[in-house]
Amino acid sequence: MCGITAYVGDGQAYPYLLKGLERLEYRGYDSAGVATVNNGQVQLHKTPGKVEQLKSTVLPGKIGISHTRWATHGPPTKDNAHPHLCQTNSIALVHNGIIENYAQLRGQLQEKGYTFKSDTDTEVLVQLMNYYYGKTYNMEMALRKALHDVVGAYGIVAFHKDDPRLYAARKGSPLVVGIGDNENFVASDPAAFLDSTRRVLYLEDEDIAVVSKNDYEIKSLCVGEEECVHRTEESIDWDLSSVEKNGFEHFMLKEIMEQPESLKHCLAGRIDLTTGGIKVTIDLPEHFVKRLSKISIVACGTSSYAAYVGKYLIEKYSRIPVEVDVASEWRYKNPIVGPEDLVIVISQSGETADTLAALREAKKQGARSLGVINVVGSSMAREVDSGIYIHAGPEIGVASTKAFTGQVVALNFLALRLAEMRKDLRHEEVLLAIQELEKTPELVTSCLKEAPEIKEVASQIKDAKSVFFIGRGVNLATAMEGALKLKEISYIHSEFFPAGEMKHGPIALLEPGFPVVTFVNKNDPMYEKNLSSIQEAKARGAFIIAVADHVDAVLTSNADAILHVPTVPDILQPIINVIPLQLLAYYVALARGCEIDQPRNLAKSVTVE
Ligand code: G6P
Repeated sequence: MCGITAYVGDGQAYPYLLKGLERLEYRGYDSAGVATVNNGQVQLHKTPGKVEQLKSTVLPGKIGISHTRWATHGPPTKDNAHPHLCQTNSIALVHNGIIENYAQLRGQLQEKGYTFKSDTDTEVLVQLMNYYYGKTYNMEMALRKALHDVVGAYGIVAFHKDDPRLYAARKGSPLVVGIGDNENFVASDPAAFLDSTRRVLYLEDEDIAVVSKNDYEIKSLCVGEEECVHRTEESIDWDLSSVEKNGFEHFMLKEIMEQPESLKHCLAGRIDLTTGGIKVTIDLPEHFVKRLSKISIVACGTSSYAAYVGKYLIEKYSRIPVEVDVASEWRYKNPIVGPEDLVIVISQSGETADTLAALREAKKQGARSLGVINVVGSSMAREVDSGIYIHAGPEIGVASTKAFTGQVVALNFLALRLAEMRKDLRHEEVLLAIQELEKTPELVTSCLKEAPEIKEVASQIKDAKSVFFIGRGVNLATAMEGALKLKEISYIHSEFFPAGEMKHGPIALLEPGFPVVTFVNKNDPMYEKNLSSIQEAKARGAFIIAVADHVDAVLTSNADAILHVPTVPDILQPIINVIPLQLLAYYVALARGCEIDQPRNLAKSVTVE
C-alpha cells in the first residue's frame, strides 16, 4: 500500500527513483510522483495513473524521493499524488499510512495562514514540518516535532532543498535503508534498490533515519535527539530475478508456475525422513503448549483462508478448538484471550495493518503469539513470540498465489509440531504426514501441466455474471480462495458457500449455465456429500466445473468440465486443488483483458486500516 523510494548519492537520482517505483508498483498504482533538488530548487513531477507516465520527463538532481499511491484521502488526481510540498516549496515529503488527526491539524495550520492544494492527510504533515522548521531551522527537529503532534501510521521520507540529506521515519508502515557506495537509499521494500545494494537496515517503529550519501544515523522518537540507536545491518539473500517477470506475461502467472520451487524452499531443511522428525522449532514452552485449550488464528484476505486449513489441521491432530477471525473484526471485538492462549497470525507481507494491530492486541492481553509469515524481517516477524517463515520469496502479483500454498505447508508443519509437543500423534503418524508433505512440489508440477485445458475451460466461463465455489471440510477453504482469486482479477462476481448450505438459499440463484466450481477428491471425508451437492446443482442446469482426482460415470454425467488433479490425502487437498483455481482465475482475467497484476482498487500490502 503506497510505495516509497528515495535516493541520495553521486549519481542522478531520477533513474533510480523510477526503477524503484516500477518495482514497488504492486503496492499501489493509481498515481505517482517524484521530487528532486536541482540548483537549490525543488523539482516536482506527478501524474495520475501509472509510473510509466513519469518517463516523459527527467528531473535533474542527486537527491530525490518518489511515491506510487493507493488512494485513501482524496481521489487519484495529480494534486493528490505524492510528493507533497510545503507552501514555501522548500520541503518535499512522501508518506505511506494514515494521519488520523489530520482534519484537526489542518484546521490549526489554516488558522496560522497555511493553505492546502490537496485533499490528502499527507500535505498536513509537510506543512507541519514547515511550521516547525520555521522555528528551529533544523529538519530533524521539525520532523520530530511534527511527528509528536501526529496520531496515526506512517512511513515517510522528506528532504529540504538546502540540506543534502534524506529524513525518514516509520510507525506502522515499513521502511528500509539501503547502504551503497557513495549512495544510499530508503524504500518501502528492498526490491526498489536491489540492483544497487543488498546491504540493508530495517527501521523499527518510531525510528528516525537521517541519511546522507556516505552516512546514516538512526535515532528514535522515544529517546533524546542526541542519542543514536543501533539497528543491525542485514544482507538480502534473495535474487533479483524473483522480482522480475523472467519472460512471463504477468507476475501472477510466474508466481503460479514457480510454486514447485517456492514449496521446495518451504520444505527445505525442515524434514528428516530418516528419523521422521520435523526440524521446525516452535519457540513456545512445552508446558504452555500442553495446556492449550484454545487457539485463535487471525489474518486477512488469502491468509485468512489459509487459516481455515490451519484450523482443520490443528483440530484434526490435537482436538484443540481453533477459532478463525479476520483481523479487522478480531482486533475490535474485545477478544477473549489471555496468558493461557495462543494467537497465530498469518501474513504474506508481515505488514498488513489490521493483522499487525491484532497481534499487538493479543500481546497486550498477555496471549502468546506465533506468526506464519513470508517477508523476512517484516514488522510481524519481529514482533511475534515465535514464527515459521514460508520462504516463498517476494510475491509481486496482487492476487496472492504462492503465499497461499506456502502458508498451507507451513501450517501443516505447525499442526504436526504442536501435536508432537503435546504427544497427540504417534511418531508413525507424523512420519506418514511428512512423507506426504515432501511430495507437494512434484504434485503441484503435475497440476500445472493441466494449464492448456484450464485455459480452455476459462474461455467457456469468461462471460459469466457470477460463479459459485462450493466445498466442504478442508475444501471449504479452497472454495474461499478460489472465489477470491476469480473476483479479484476478473471482476466477475464470485462467492463461496459451504456445499451443504446451497439448499438453504444460494441455490435459488442457479439458472441454466450458471458456473459452479466444486471438488471431487477420493480421500475427502466429504466425498459422497460433495457428489450430492453437484447433482443438486446440475439438476438446476448449473455448468459444473469439478476439480477432480478421478473420473467415473457419476462425474462424467454431471460435470461439464473437469480440472484434473492428483490423488492426495485430505491435508494436502487445499494445495493441490487451489492450483487449477489460480490458473482458472488467471485465464478468465486474461480472456477478459483485465489488468492482472494490478487489479482495480486493490493493493498488495494493506498498511492502512
Ligand atoms: C491484500 C492483498 C491480498 C492479501 C491480503 C492480506 O488484500 O491484496 O492478496 O491476501 O492483503 O495480506 P497479507 O500480506 O497479510 O497476507
